[in-house]
Order: sequence, then structure tokens, then C-alpha cells
Amino acid sequence: MELPFAESYKIKMVENIRKSTREEREKWIAEAKYNLFALKSQYVYIDLLTDSGTGAMSDKQWAAIMEGDESYAGATSFYKLKDTIKDITGLDYVLPTHQGRAAENVLFSAIVKEGDILPGNSHFDTTKGHIEFRKAHAIDCTIDEASDTELEIPFKGNMDLKKLEDVLKANPKEKIPAIVLTITNNTAGGQPVSMENIKGVSALAKKYGVKLLIDSARFAENAYFIKTREAGYADKSIIDICREIYSHADYMTMSAKKDGIVNIGGFLGFKDEKDMQKCQMYSIMFEGYLTYGGMAGRDMNALAQGLRESMEFDYLETRIKQVAYLASKLDEYGVPYQRPAGGHAIFVDAKKILTNVPKEEFQAQTLAIELYLEAGIRGVEIGALLADRDPDTKENRYPRLELLRLAIPRRVYTNNHMDYIAAALKNVYDRRESITSGYRITKELPIMRHFTIELEKVKR
Ligand code: F0G
Repeated sequence: MELPFAESYKIKMVENIRKSTREEREKWIAEAKYNLFALKSQYVYIDLLTDSGTGAMSDKQWAAIMEGDESYAGATSFYKLKDTIKDITGLDYVLPTHQGRAAENVLFSAIVKEGDILPGNSHFDTTKGHIEFRKAHAIDCTIDEASDTELEIPFKGNMDLKKLEDVLKANPKEKIPAIVLTITNNTAGGQPVSMENIKGVSALAKKYGVKLLIDSARFAENAYFIKTREAGYADKSIIDICREIYSHADYMTMSAKKDGIVNIGGFLGFKDEKDMQKCQMYSIMFEGYLTYGGMAGRDMNALAQGLRESMEFDYLETRIKQVAYLASKLDEYGVPYQRPAGGHAIFVDAKKILTNVPKEEFQAQTLAIELYLEAGIRGVEIGALLADRDPDTKENRYPRLELLRLAIPRRVYTNNHMDYIAAALKNVYDRRESITSGYRITKELPIMRHFTIELEKVKR
């Protein structure tokens, strides 16, 4: 008999989680003004809000914590981290930051000015926020295929090279501080970018004299997809694929809370020393001295070890196959999602499910609330609330996709939890026709409103 696939780790420590009743959840979500971010975590049974900072560290990472060097300057923990990043990416210069958006803040303070243009493949919301906050523009050049959730193509996160070249042609290079390539493409569904596409973007960057920034939160997962899906990479190791990816990068922003498998942390990587020097002042002002930048020595140690672990094929296979397992259950029940399953999450297609809820009443948010009420599962809306209002017209932006993201934390839940999630979604799906109204906004901030937004139920 062929042996089934099984996890590449065993469990050493557990944390209890608690179920609740539907009645309790109705009260809690109303108190949270229908914003799942405002829920206390003890009111959540399975938390799929994010895969960011929610992973389980290994015994080796916990051991590394004990050996952290807490010196203000020149800590050995910094050099361990720097050497690890250099080994994996080839980038010589590193500035630690407390998380990914802090890396964006430091870099964009140095390179982005009012009126600038940063083309990219679905900029993440904090990236877009940091660009628009500086009165610059994030232009989305993702391939059109990414918004057809039924289409199965291997690299649905790719940049559309024609769209990118049109932007590069139409603007002087002085107005384009960087092209932002996000791997994997979170917003489009945790979809990977192919090496061929990375090379294509890099060639255009060189042709037009523009720098390439790789937003790298899930770079190891992207490398796994290149190895398993792209011709010519099956025999290459994950680390070699990463080295090839970063041979094309001028800058790297990293949220280490994802593929660094730590609870907090991030960094900037640079090919050119001069680019790093431009950022040093902002790093010291916003983050901390150059050799800790918002991280404790122990955190840098845990991150160096976490980055090593994310280069292990068996770890990545375990992770990606768990997401695929959840997808296979949804296939069984007919629940539509962004296909094929992504690296870190399943993105359920709320537009296709809640056809009786008008888009002005936020279909994906409505589905997120229904799933919470059904089973105590917390996902996150990737739709019109996340998209914010247009900074010029102040009108709501309605993206082509209304998705409910179910992000799977690394090494945290078992496949029994996946079965539970799939069954809960099936129950909501089966009663979809009876869900006919959504929510309206009662309070919001101008940028990144979804974190703090307050909503009320639309009654019909
Ligand atoms: N870039 C990408 C692609 C991200 O997914 C994130 C965070 C960031 C940058 C910012 O990093 O959170 O460390 O400041 N994504 C999380 C998520 C929050 O849930 O997808 P951060």
C-alpha cells in the first residue's frame, strides 16, 4: 500500500481553544460592531484571520531565543540574522525592522515622494497605504486572469508585463522609485509568481532604469511553487531558487511574521550599499539602532533559525498540502474559491455565493460574519472594505473580487480542524439563498479602514 502523506513534525506543546454557542457569538459580533478584528480572541474557536505572526515556533527556535544577544549595538544575533539572509538571498545589506510595514515605512521614507508612481502586482494594503499616505500612486498591473476565480493556471500572481511596460513608458524614471513585485501575491489569493515572470519584470526594470523591490512575506512558499510547477526547477533546492529570485532584486521588504515563522519581526535587504545608507536615518528614527531595528536579540535569533526552517522542502510541502487538503474538501461540497488553492490561504469567492447581497452591502464581509456565527471561525474580508475609498473621489472602490480569506497559520492546526472549517462553510453555502442583506458603514478611518471600521446590519 502506498503510504499516505503525513506532517513533517510532531507536537510538543498545546494550547487549549474553546467552542462557543451561536447565541454567544451573536452577542459578541454585535458588540464588535460586526468587525472581526474587534473580537477578543477567546471568542474565536479557529482563528484564520491571518497567517501573520500566528505560526508555531520550533523547539530549535525556542532554544535560539535563550541564546539571544541583547547588546544595543553589534549583537551577535544581528550578524547571525544578516549572514542567514545573505546566504538565502545573496543580498549583502540588511536593516532589521519590527515588522513588514515598518520596512515599507523606512524604505518609502527614503525613496517615495509626492506624485510618484509604483507599479506592482496587487500591492498589499499596508504597501498601498504607505504609498498613498505619501501622495504617490500604486498602479496595479496584475494579470487579468487573476480575477477569474475558476481559472486554473499555475502562476496566477504574475505581473502583466504589457501593463507594466505601458506604465514605465508613460512616465519618466525619476517618478518611479521602484516596481513592487509581491511574492506570493497575497491579495490575488496567495498565488505564486513564476521565475519567468520575475525575470521578465527584472528585464523591464533594467530597460527603463528603474529599481525592483520584492515584497517577500511568503517568498519561500513562492519558491516551493516554482520548484513544483515551473519547468526546469524540479531538481533545484528551495534555497537555490531563492538565490535566483533575489539575484534580480534591488530591494527586499520582509514581513518575517510569515515565512520567517516568528511572531514578530521584519527586515529590509539591499543589493547596493548606497541604497541601504539612504535608509539608515529613517531606520534609526523610526525603528532603532541599525543592528536591532525594533527587534530584540532573541527575536533576531529565532528569525535566523525560522528562515532556515522555511528553506526545508518537507516543511513547505506539509504546509502547502494542508491548504490543498482544505481546498479538496471545499471541492467536494461545491464551495467556490480562488483556484488553484494558494500558498497560505483559501480565498472563498463571496460574490459567487452571496448573490442576493448587493455589493454595496459588502458581500465578503457578510460571508465572514456568517461563518463566524456558524462555527466560531474567524476569516478576513478581502474586498470593498479593504480596498478603501478612492483617495481622489472619496467613493467606495469595488474591486473585481469579493473574497473571504481563510489564512492558515503555520504548524498550528490539524487536518481535523480543516474538516471542521470545510463543514462550517458547507452549512453557510447550503443556506446562501436565504442571506439577502449585508452591512453598512457607521464609522471609518480614511486609510486602512478595515482594521477599525464599525458596521451595522442592513434590515429589509
Ligand atoms: N506585504 C505582504 C505581502 C503582506 O501580506 C503583509 C502583511 C505585509 C507586507 C506587511 O507586513 O504585517 O509584518 O507589517 N500581511 C498580513 C496579512 C497582515 O494578514 O496578510 P506586516
